[in-house]
Amino acid sequence: MTIEDRDDVQLITHALARDTLSKIRDTGTAQVPFRKGLVKLGRICGYEIIDGALETEYVPVTTPLTEMTGERIKGIENVVIINVLRAATPFVEGLLKAFPKARQGVISAGRDEESGMDDAGAFPISVDYVKLPTITPEDTVIVADPMLATGSTMCTVLEAVLNDQPEPANLFVLSAVSAPDGLLRVGDAFPEATLLTVSLDDRLDENGYIVPGLGDAGDRAFGTD
Ligand code: URA
Repeated sequence: MTIEDRDDVQLITHALARDTLSKIRDTGTAQVPFRKGLVKLGRICGYEIIDGALETEYVPVTTPLTEMTGERIKGIENVVIINVLRAATPFVEGLLKAFPKARQGVISAGRDEESGMDDAGAFPISVDYVKLPTITPEDTVIVADPMLATGSTMCTVLEAVLNDQPEPANLFVLSAVSAPDGLLRVGDAFPEATLLTVSLDDRLDENGYIVPGLGDAGDRAFGTD
């Protein structure tokens, strides 16, 4: 099945998200505007998740002038955000502007590039640190990583997040840029997940980088190389 046929893959199409992503893709964007761009993207994605996935309920409101019926978002208290260190850190900072009360999990997981790619074109993943909140069946869980490339890191992270926990009401895998192979891999392994991405790019290069992509998101956000 191709990406186009799947209904578990959804693009975040907000014009500000596309605008911000295009800015940070550019090699002329320095570390600070790059990091701030990732924060902004996280915030926009958070608002889009609220709009698309959470319901509202009618509530009585007393304004200084009168009584009226207003609307509040249901379930916004039951959000868990998983920060896949380290590139997701600015992305999560933005998400937290949409979900300030979210419980947060942190996983340090990444490619072991020295071991080289396996036959399936993926790097082995090393997991160094895991600290996760308890998940309840009412929760909306957002696993955030700005770059979803081969999908190996995300599959490892999802296994850790879902291990011995009840299935949450909503499970979102959120990326800014993704590659078709990675999305297919994650979607096949975790059919319960909705895969949200701002851009579905063309392909992976021989080093597992997304093309056209934006390079190494962690290095660009943290000023390392
Ligand atoms: N991680 C990145 O930061 N960039 C890629 O292109 C792939 C993985």
